Amino acid sequence: MKILVVADEREMSIEAARIIGALVRTKPDAVLGLPTGSTPLGTYRELARMHHEENLDFSRVRTINLDEYIGLSGDHPQSYRAFMRKHLFDHVNIDENNTHIPDGMAENIEEECRRYDEIFYRYGRTDLQMIGIGVNAHIAFNEPADCFTPDTHIAVLTESTINANKRNFDRRDEVPQTAISVGMRGIMSTRHLVLIACGEGKAEAVAKSCFGPVTPQVPGSLIQLHPYTTVIADEAAMALCPVFFENK
Ligand code: F6R
Repeated sequence: MKILVVADEREMSIEAARIIGALVRTKPDAVLGLPTGSTPLGTYRELARMHHEENLDFSRVRTINLDEYIGLSGDHPQSYRAFMRKHLFDHVNIDENNTHIPDGMAENIEEECRRYDEIFYRYGRTDLQMIGIGVNAHIAFNEPADCFTPDTHIAVLTESTINANKRNFDRRDEVPQTAISVGMRGIMSTRHLVLIACGEGKAEAVAKSCFGPVTPQVPGSLIQLHPYTTVIADEAAMALCPVFFENK
C-alpha cells in the first residue's frame, strides 16, 4: 500500500486527478470506477479543468459508479446519477452511454444488482477504482457487517451513514434508507485501488482501514489485501495513523 499524505483537500484532489489523468492519457478507453460524496468533488473539478485546459479526452472513457439510492430516479436532484452529471459528466466530453450507475427505480432490484455485476464481467476489471470512506469505514455502501459481501447488493444504510448523508436532503426522513451498492468483488477486482480521504472526521476510519485488523466490521480494512492500493489522505485524516505519528 502506498500512502500519500498531503496537506489538505485541495492537494488530495489534485493528486487523485493527476493519477486518473495520467491513466486516461495512456489508456483512452480506460474503465474508471467512481464514487460520489463530498470527498471526490475537488477531483472531479480538477478533471474538468484538465479537460478544458489540457485537452484531457474522455470520449472513450467508461465509468462504473459504486452505488445509487433505491427509490430515486436518475433525474432526482439527490440521485447519484444527477450528482455525476452535475459534478463531472456535464463538464467533460464523456459519452453518457459509457457511464454506468445502478437504476434505483428498477422494478426488480435484485435483477438490477445482477445486471450491474454483468457490467463488471463484461468490462473485465476496472483500470482504476477510486473510493471514498465513510466515518464508520464503509466503502461504497458496504456497511460494517459479519462478513464481506462480494456481489452488488441491496444495502441497508446504517444510522451513521444516514446521518452523514442527510446534509444533502431537506429533511432526515427524505434520506433513502437503502441503496444498490457494488460489493467487495467489484471494488477489489480493480487494477489500481485509490482511496481518498480528508478531514479529521475520517481519521479513525483511515487508521483502522490502513493499519487495523482486516475485518468486515471495518469494511475499508479489506483494501490492505489489494496488491496495488494508493491512499491519498490529508494530514487531518492521517492523524491517528501510527506511522504518520512516528514520521512527524
Ligand atoms: C459514495 C460512496 C460512499 C462515500 C462515503 C464517503 O458513492 O460510495 O462510500 O464514498 O460515504 O462520503 P463523503 O465523501 O461524502 O464523506
